[in-house]
Amino acid sequence: MRGLLSPQFLLLLIACVQAANITTGNNNAGKLQNSNSRNQSSQNDIDPVVINGYVVTDRRLGFAHLARIVFEPFPSLQSQCTGSLISPSFVLTAGHCLVKGVFKIFRWKYKNFNVTLGDLSTSETGETHEHTRSGIPLPFPFYPKFKTAIDPTDIGLLKISPQANITDYTKPIALPPSSFELPLNATVTVAGWGVSETGGDASDLLRWGSAQVDDSEACSAKLSTKQICLFDQARLQSSCNGDSGGPVMYDGYVVGTVSYGTTDCPLDSAWGAVRVSAYVTWIQIHTGTL
Ligand SMILES: *[C@@H]1O[C@H](CO)[C@@H](O)[C@H](O)[C@H]1NC(C)=O
Ligand SMILES: *[C@@H]1O[C@H](CO)[C@@H](O)[C@H](O)[C@H]1NC(C)=O
Ligand SMILES: *[C@@H]1O[C@H](CO)[C@@H](O)[C@H](O)[C@H]1NC(C)=O
Ligand SMILES: *[C@@H]1O[C@H](CO)[C@@H](O)[C@H](O)[C@H]1NC(C)=O
Ligand SMILES: *[C@@H]1O[C@H](CO)[C@@H](O)[C@H](O)[C@H]1NC(C)=O
Repeated sequence: MRGLLSPQFLLLLIACVQAANITTGNNNAGKLQNSNSRNQSSQNDIDPVVINGYVVTDRRLGFAHLARIVFEPFPSLQSQCTGSLISPSFVLTAGHCLVKGVFKIFRWKYKNFNVTLGDLSTSETGETHEHTRSGIPLPFPFYPKFKTAIDPTDIGLLKISPQANITDYTKPIALPPSSFELPLNATVTVAGWGVSETGGDASDLLRWGSAQVDDSEACSAKLSTKQICLFDQARLQSSCNGDSGGPVMYDGYVVGTVSYGTTDCPLDSAWGAVRVSAYVTWIQIHTGTL
């Protein structure tokens, strides 16, 4: 049992967008973990991220659409999510990166969305291909449909202005057709930014990992067909806080947007994404491609 639907999921969702400087003094968003970065004390002295090749060193190798989203959940506090450029003017991300939505009564507006494209390193500014745009949030109209963290409507768009510079380093990713079916056990790629959770070993680099599409009872019994349950069968990787909104990629498409996981992202826990094919018509209407 992976305890997929334990109350811990609520916490992670909140952490995805609120954790900045509340507990650790670090913005812990944008994190893609692997077994080595989880417990560096058990590793040797070589940079664990490089050992497993998880750092993205060249955006042209399938990561040109990655967008880093920074916003203000509260005045004087910043948080971060990940997104995908899907057209020169739109970035696809998670609904909970755009509006506080877990408890309707506490809902307020996030503001000052900045979308950085062409980026690899969070701390390095002025990277050759990096450019930042301001964004206007457009959550899916029925988000949140439920008062829970695990929400099949956890998806949204940021309209960016001015348009992105389209280059080999900053290029939209294709949306899947609405009829797209993600095969069971398919290996998907996920990517996001962030810091390492253990011992303050911050990594500000874009990282990638993989997982398999899972439909076991424990993984997906209570999920909607508008969600994808994911799990790394090798138990080496997991998406984590602040990968929220980041792309789940398969066959050249952005098939999912990272939505939720278990607190601290244990490697024996599944995590979930919103199924993009279920929202493709809505996306196309808003991006003017339908
Ligand atoms: C890291 O791994 C070592 C060896 O497996 C173990 O003894 C230690 O408790 C782990 N530390 C954490 C923080 O998990
Ligand atoms: C976005 O960028 C503008 C202009 O540089 C800046 O004033 C604002 O604070 C940024 N917002 C966030 C959330 O970083
Ligand atoms: C978070 O805290 C660190 C250390 O106190 C500080 O350097 C950083 O500017 C803070 N970040 C935000 C977004 O407030
Ligand atoms: C983006 O395009 C504008 C206008 O063509 C240009 O001035 C700017 O240098 C470009 N920025 C990047 C990072 O390519
Ligand atoms: C998927 O993987 C599971 C676990 O390895 C296996 O039991 C199952 O038969 C696979 N299903 C398909 C359709 O490949």
